[in-house]
Amino acid sequence: MGEQIVQELKECPEVRGIVTYDVAEDRIRVMKDQYQVPGSTRLRDILDDPAVKLVFVAAANHAHKDLTLQSLEAGKAVLCEKPIANTLADARLMVETAERLKLFFQIGFELRYSLLYMKIKEWIDAGLLGQVVNTHCLYTSCAYDKKAWRNTKREGGDTFGERISHYVDLTRWWVGSPVTEVYSACSPNVVPYTEVHDNYHTTYRFKNGAIGHISYYMNYPALFRGDPLVDNITDLQLGDGHKLRYIVVGTKGAAETDVFYRRIKRWQFSDSPDTMVSDWVENLTWSSKEDYFYYHNTTHQTYDVVRRVAQGLPPMTPARDAYETMRLCFSADEAANTGRAVRLAEHS
Ligand SMILES: NC(=O)c1ccc[n+]([C@@H]2O[C@H](COP(=O)([O-])OP(=O)(O)OC[C@H]3O[C@@H](n4cnc5c(N)ncnc54)[C@H](O)[C@@H]3O)[C@@H](O)[C@H]2O)c1
Repeated sequence: MGEQIVQELKECPEVRGIVTYDVAEDRIRVMKDQYQVPGSTRLRDILDDPAVKLVFVAAANHAHKDLTLQSLEAGKAVLCEKPIANTLADARLMVETAERLKLFFQIGFELRYSLLYMKIKEWIDAGLLGQVVNTHCLYTSCAYDKKAWRNTKREGGDTFGERISHYVDLTRWWVGSPVTEVYSACSPNVVPYTEVHDNYHTTYRFKNGAIGHISYYMNYPALFRGDPLVDNITDLQLGDGHKLRYIVVGTKGAAETDVFYRRIKRWQFSDSPDTMVSDWVENLTWSSKEDYFYYHNTTHQTYDVVRRVAQGLPPMTPARDAYETMRLCFSADEAANTGRAVRLAEHS
């Protein structure tokens, strides 16, 4: 992720210099040799430099809290990758510290910049779907490598924050109402060496009555390889997982996305003497060159964050809002571990 962000920063006209920090010297060498960007294994080299205005925290999850707090205390603006932190208490401390110091703090829920998922939001805001009442996300990914920090609870946190938080964030964004209840269940793991759950079946009940459901399985999408209809699964995406579909149903229409088949569709509901009619009214696609912008699109997030910090503007989404997404991730885990629904107060 750090490499991706560095490449994007090099394209930003407002950026006059980039310097990287990592505990691993080989990663610093990659930055220098591949991207011609200097680096250090001493954090103070960066935080004590008044020329550094903005810090991107893209280290492994267990390092987010300390790196963010130290950056904020040094007066820097911060973009921290998802999940905010590995515990909700840490995430709250980070958000409260940024608020106390009145510093820019945005979380990397960059799917809100995805041209695909922005289209759904545009349809909802234009009233084309009516009130959103049901959402369903089916997401599958490959297993992590055996030595990956993501396998461990101490370093990676729960699978929900690491893998699924993006999709909770989108659901909240589209439904636009607070969650009141979370139900969740996990089957026994298929991937034997993960210390964390490798599947979740989670349902959110929203205050306005809507239901959002997310099904996640690990170690399934390698089946994609060889599918003649799917020509945009890169090795990177395959290695990282990914089969990803959304269905969003409102009172006036519905939408469906499949990012790997490059499609987004919309239906419009109407009445007829015999039945309720559902007309397929939009069918959009994009070119392979645009794949990244229609999916993760950290590129537009990076440009936007740099521009906002340079102009003294607030984050695109307040960190409080990202914290709410994290609260729903931890609640899903709690529900799965206890077998009981978690009821949420509106503000806690
Ligand atoms: N937004 C997205 O879609 C997205 C995609 C991929 C990764 N991420 C996030 O980016 C972060 C990094 O993921 P990755 O895939 O690049 O992992 P990675 O394992 O490739 O890189 C993690 C890096 O963190 C460094 N590190 C570990 N502890 C550190 C510490 N205490 N201080 C400084 N550096 C430390 C490691 O040396 C390594 O270079 C994670 O939080 C992950 O969730 C987000």
